[in-house]
Amino acid sequence: MNMRTKEIPARNLTSEQAWWHSAVIYQIYPRSFADADGDGIGDLPGITARLPYLARLGVDALWLSPFYRSPQADAGYDVADYRAVDPLFGTLHDFEQLLREAHALGMKVIVDLVPNHTSDEHAWFQVALQSAPGSPERARYIFRNGKGQHGELPPNDWQSVFGGNAWSRAPGDTQWYLHLFDRRQPDLNWDNPEVHEEFEDVLHFWLERGVDGFRVDVAHGLIKAPGLPDWSGQAAMVEGTQDSNIKAGPMWDQEGVHDIYRAWRRVLDAYPGERMMVAEAWIAPPERLVRYIRPDEMQQAFNFDYLLAHWHAAEFRKVIDASLAASASVGAPTTWVMSNHDSVRHTSRFGLSTPGARPKGIDAASEQPNEALGLRRARAAAMLTLALPGSAYLYQGEELGLPEHTTLDAHYRQDPAFFRTHGEEIGRDGCRVPMPWQADAPSFGFGPSQKSWLPQPSNFVRYAVDRQDGVSGSTLELYRQLLQLRREYALGVGQLRWVEESATANTEVLVFDNGSLRAVINFGLEPAALPAGTVLMSSEPLDAAGRLSGNSAAWLAIA
Ligand code: GLC
Ligand code: MG
Repeated sequence: MNMRTKEIPARNLTSEQAWWHSAVIYQIYPRSFADADGDGIGDLPGITARLPYLARLGVDALWLSPFYRSPQADAGYDVADYRAVDPLFGTLHDFEQLLREAHALGMKVIVDLVPNHTSDEHAWFQVALQSAPGSPERARYIFRNGKGQHGELPPNDWQSVFGGNAWSRAPGDTQWYLHLFDRRQPDLNWDNPEVHEEFEDVLHFWLERGVDGFRVDVAHGLIKAPGLPDWSGQAAMVEGTQDSNIKAGPMWDQEGVHDIYRAWRRVLDAYPGERMMVAEAWIAPPERLVRYIRPDEMQQAFNFDYLLAHWHAAEFRKVIDASLAASASVGAPTTWVMSNHDSVRHTSRFGLSTPGARPKGIDAASEQPNEALGLRRARAAAMLTLALPGSAYLYQGEELGLPEHTTLDAHYRQDPAFFRTHGEEIGRDGCRVPMPWQADAPSFGFGPSQKSWLPQPSNFVRYAVDRQDGVSGSTLELYRQLLQLRREYALGVGQLRWVEESATANTEVLVFDNGSLRAVINFGLEPAALPAGTVLMSSEPLDAAGRLSGNSAAWLAIA
């Protein structure tokens, strides 16, 4: 691997913009990051113990997926108490310590907020089930009478995102309740002021403890179209994103959601520091998405069009241009994201015969990704992503080049989508496998015991942190170096300028400048001549003729 060949001038981060405009934010999936107590499930003390690793990696902020009290029917995205830490993960004191230590190391902390639905074990839902139809207790959720002579049919034809009916009837009950996800995740009724008050209070609870922001789960789903009209489509989180002609169903992207975020923005703005919100909203086109990040709403939205892009130069370029233009139209920064806890890891997606496809899970019977090719592309993709202006999200393990677990046995699976679709959807467990920290330790150093809530595949041995730490050319060192250069060159607050030059008149190569850094990404198989500039680093060694080999990338310094 080509290391720096030129001394880099120190550059100040002279941004007057808030931190989140340009932040690199690392997603921690708490149950799979690090297990301190040896029960096989990651926990908050485990994260705290690994904070120095994250600071050394060079990220600006952490986003923690839910660690709240929950029966874990959807891995914590089913919250039973929004103000309590689940004993599985530790205590509120553990969280406060994590926050304090992260701040001391210069990292911000964002927590997950799940406002579309609660757990069926939430006190509100429990009391709703015991209350009469039409009662104020039921009015916090979406209870309706069924259709048919005896109400035996669901109130409308909506399907759950996880498969099956979006309505369930509580045993012995005359009414049905709506759940866009699992039956253990009843949707809240956001037409009810009490729900608004409760969530504003939850925001205060965590803001007072010092969190720097919230990742808002299913941000496009809170308000449903009046009358809950029938809809023949299948509700899916990604619907509409690939084809902007597909109109989102009546459960998504309703106008009323924006008032909620305006109110929350006022709550956040009353606190010192630059507190922020990021929307998880799977909607298209980008012009619709950026309505969530207008100046008086949230600060960021995940750019899932980027996550969904296939490994082709033209496709990436198109998504990048469209994203930058749409965000600029509302004065917000873009975000870039390739992986998260809901998608097959991009290292593996880029190794499929349709590179970048997003299957709903991979198992032993599926096409197996080409691991080496996927990794090579993922390394080049990191050099693309981290050279772009705006904010970037990393998913734990991607800095190791970690692949999906593609051969997990069905009996280990826990994702409700797998069960609700009767295995038709393999589900998301494969990207949620515990992190390998040490090649030669039980559970690859995930915890002090053999236990790991999902088994780790044997190939994780090659990706363990201790196999990569300090090893020149390793993916971990690549990420560390990229993050350092990103800081030095202030890429996050920069401007992108495409470079079209004859030397690289190869349609599989993208070249752009961001300040005095030039990024070159070769999506093709053929080696490509490098444009002018001094090579700072490359994802693969240059060939004997000094060319950039296929499926690799380089960063150059330009005058
Ligand atoms: C979001 C989460 C996902 C969860 C769903 C329901 O998409 O990222 O993990 O299953 O919402 O809360
Ligand atoms: Mg544990």
